[in-house]
Amino acid sequence: MSDVPTIRIAPSLLSADFACLREQIELIERAGADLLHLDIMDGHFAPNLSFGVPVVEAISNVTDLFLDTHLMIADPERYARPFVEAGASSITFHIEVVDHPRETVKRLRELGVKLGVALNPSTPVEAVLEVVEDVDIVLVMAVQPGFGGQRFRIDCLDKIATLADLMSEEQWLEVDGGVNLETARLAVAAGADTLVAGHAIFRSDDPIAAVAALRAAALHASAAGRKR
Ligand code: DX5
Ligand code: ZN
Repeated sequence: MSDVPTIRIAPSLLSADFACLREQIELIERAGADLLHLDIMDGHFAPNLSFGVPVVEAISNVTDLFLDTHLMIADPERYARPFVEAGASSITFHIEVVDHPRETVKRLRELGVKLGVALNPSTPVEAVLEVVEDVDIVLVMAVQPGFGGQRFRIDCLDKIATLADLMSEEQWLEVDGGVNLETARLAVAAGADTLVAGHAIFRSDDPIAAVAALRAAALHASAAGRKR
């Protein structure tokens, strides 16, 4: 077993320059990003409209990066398959929009991609307990869905720590929203291993250096952090 802790850096494309997505994607490929985080918003579950299936298809045609697809939409079961067919490598739905999580997980499993469940800052961790063993990813939102550039909610750290004790090493404990050098350290020390960052990367002076700095900070925090 490798003693180098696993840390995944997932730049969120929502903060990229949409006028030149191909170049922005090439930039974070050069930066060594592990995943490309795609924030899909429908203007209903999240108070913003971002992009849909045609854009994901165009993105999948220009990169081999793992497309970590975050569905902030009211009807994930209706649209998950088109996103997978467009090239999504994982589908993460929000626990807040499903009535029967186990049923949803069972149906989405048929898509044959990594499956994640996300929870908003105000959603208690109890909301995902019935499916936490059945998913590949748990995405802890440290900001309210809708926009990049918000402040990380420190009160989400307890949720991360609780999930870290419940999840296996094979699962991804992902944190999303307001991640920067300081909050990345806190999130990883609490047990996170996958970090979504939008503004901290795409709005930095040097996205390549920003990815490297986030990874270094996370690896350093991981050495002292909670183990799964
Ligand atoms: C918010 C999205 C996040 C956001 C992260 O609705 O789910 O992925 O784009 O951006 P930053 O890192 O700038 O908070
Ligand atoms: Zn996201």
